[in-house]
Amino acid sequence: MDTLDAINQRRSVKSFDKNYKMTKSEIDRLLEFAVLSPTSYNIQNWRFVTVTDQAIKDKLSELSHGQQQVSDASLVIILCADLNSWDKEPERYWANIPAEPRNVLVESLRRSYRGKPQQQRDEAMRSCGMAAQTIMLAAKSMGYDTCPMKGFDYDAVGNMINLPTDHIISMMVAVGKKTKDASPRGGQLPLSDVVFENKF
Ligand SMILES: Cc1cc2nc3c(=O)[nH]c(=O)nc-3n(C[C@H](O)[C@H](O)[C@H](O)COP(=O)(O)O)c2cc1C
Repeated sequence: MDTLDAINQRRSVKSFDKNYKMTKSEIDRLLEFAVLSPTSYNIQNWRFVTVTDQAIKDKLSELSHGQQQVSDASLVIILCADLNSWDKEPERYWANIPAEPRNVLVESLRRSYRGKPQQQRDEAMRSCGMAAQTIMLAAKSMGYDTCPMKGFDYDAVGNMINLPTDHIISMMVAVGKKTKDASPRGGQLPLSDVVFENKF
C-alpha cells in the first residue's frame, strides 16, 4: 500500500473480529517495522508488551473502562519506555560506528538525560508516539486496522504487566481485522488554524 494511502485510510477502529488471529510472524513483522521508527540519539527507549491471550485482553478491556476493541483486537500492544535507557550500555545504540565518534555521541547522550527526569519522560513519550504511528501505518499496509488508546487505568495496567519501576507506559494500540468502519472523521481543523509561517 502506498504510504499516503495508508495515512489517509488509517482510522481509529472500534470493532474487530474477535475470532481473527494474527500469526506470530505477522506480529514479529509489525514490530520489526516499529523499531525502524526514529528516536533521539537512536536511544530506542521504547519497550513493547504484546498481548494476544484472550483472558489478558479481557482484563485489559476491563481496565480500559470496558472498551470493547481491546477485548476484540487480535493484538494489543502496550507501548512502554525505559526512563533509564540513557544509562544502560548506551554504546549499543551506536554499535555499528567507530569507537571515537561513538564515545562522543554516548557522552552527549548521557549529558542530555542525566539528572533530568522531565527530559527522560519527554523522550519516552516522543519515542512511543513515533513508534505508535509506525505501527498503525504498517498495520494498515498489512491489511489490519488499529486504535490508539490512552483511556485505561495506567497504574493497574502497569501492575498487571509487571512494569519495571524505571519504566512508564505511554499508550496502547489495538490491532485487528475490522468488522465495522470507523465513524466519519470528527472534523479536521483547517490548516489556517494550526499552521504558522515562520512564527506565531
Ligand atoms: C494518544 C491517543 C489516545 C487515544 N485514546 C483512545 C481511547 O482510549 N479510546 C478510543 O476509542 N480512542 C482513542 N483514541 C482515538 C482518537 O479518538 C482518534 O484518534 C481521533 O478521534 C481521530 O480519529 P481517527 O484516528 O480515526 O483519525 C486515542 C488517540 C490517541 C492519539
